[in-house]
Amino acid sequence: MVEQPRICDYEGSDYRTRFWEGQGRNYEDTVERQVLRRLLPEHGKRLLEIGAGFGRLTQEYNMYEQVVLLDYSFSQLQYARDQLGDEGYVYVAADAYKLPFKPGVFDGATMIRVLHHFEDVPNVFSGIQRVMSSGATFVLEYANKRNLKAMARYALRRQKWNPYTYEPVEFVELNYDFHPSYILRELQSIGFSTQEYVPVSWFRMGALKRAVPMNMLVAMDGMMQSTRWLLSPSVFTKNVMGQKTTNNLDVALLDIFACPLTGGALTREDDRMVNADGVAWAITDGIYDFKEPIIE
Ligand SMILES: C[S@@+](CC[C@H](N)C(=O)[O-])C[C@H]1O[C@@H](n2cnc3c(N)ncnc32)[C@H](O)[C@@H]1O
Repeated sequence: MVEQPRICDYEGSDYRTRFWEGQGRNYEDTVERQVLRRLLPEHGKRLLEIGAGFGRLTQEYNMYEQVVLLDYSFSQLQYARDQLGDEGYVYVAADAYKLPFKPGVFDGATMIRVLHHFEDVPNVFSGIQRVMSSGATFVLEYANKRNLKAMARYALRRQKWNPYTYEPVEFVELNYDFHPSYILRELQSIGFSTQEYVPVSWFRMGALKRAVPMNMLVAMDGMMQSTRWLLSPSVFTKNVMGQKTTNNLDVALLDIFACPLTGGALTREDDRMVNADGVAWAITDGIYDFKEPIIE
């Protein structure tokens, strides 16, 4: 376990406009939405979207009565809230390594394009396990180190790291690729059973995306997904939580929260959430902000 894992900080980032809007990634976006709809259950009560960012995918989760968007970046959540409003959505600025929730309060979770920023996967997974209820669905996307491009580059000696080895590779600071067997083992060790895995984004190449109509690429991707060959740059997995002793799915919204420092109870006092020692966290612009306590 890493003592104090580093965080890839998106505060104030232009991720939405630099990476998505008008940046030629409609194919990836469409494929991801299709796979999410396929993997998620028809109905659910409360879903935690971990690393929700600016809420790009949040509306895909409307089969859940309530969606809690969690991200370390307050500014990303502000944009999401401006777009989505408060009906059915709850916004929480917090570190995914220190989830500010009671055990067993979610029957769903997603984490898409986020795991590649974590240097301590067992740590973040055990936190997710803690807040899931029995039978909860966790849809996880991860960047696959054993992909065709990496295999070719390694064979041609244009890449030093080995795509076949088990350990995560940090190819750029705080950007990791993972071996499918590593992810499978880590999920299993905390009580998730992986029921489906879908290799996606096979045709993530600028020239190809310019030459081939998007709908055709999406259809071709669908065909490659059905091979289940885990050789694509991105993999979606559907994981189901086994039996747990602590299930708190029926608690009211205000009761889902717990102190990010101690795990103890929190009470709401005006626009603050306060723990038993009087340490408080602000609720600002409708966002529960658990990044740092209020200093008075
Ligand atoms: C590449 S973006 C993906 C956003 C969104 N899931 C999507 O697919 O559009 C990664 C997100 O993970 C968030 N993130 C990174 N480390 C985090 C952490 N330790 N706790 C919470 N969020 C984190 C970032 O703030 C950022 O919004």
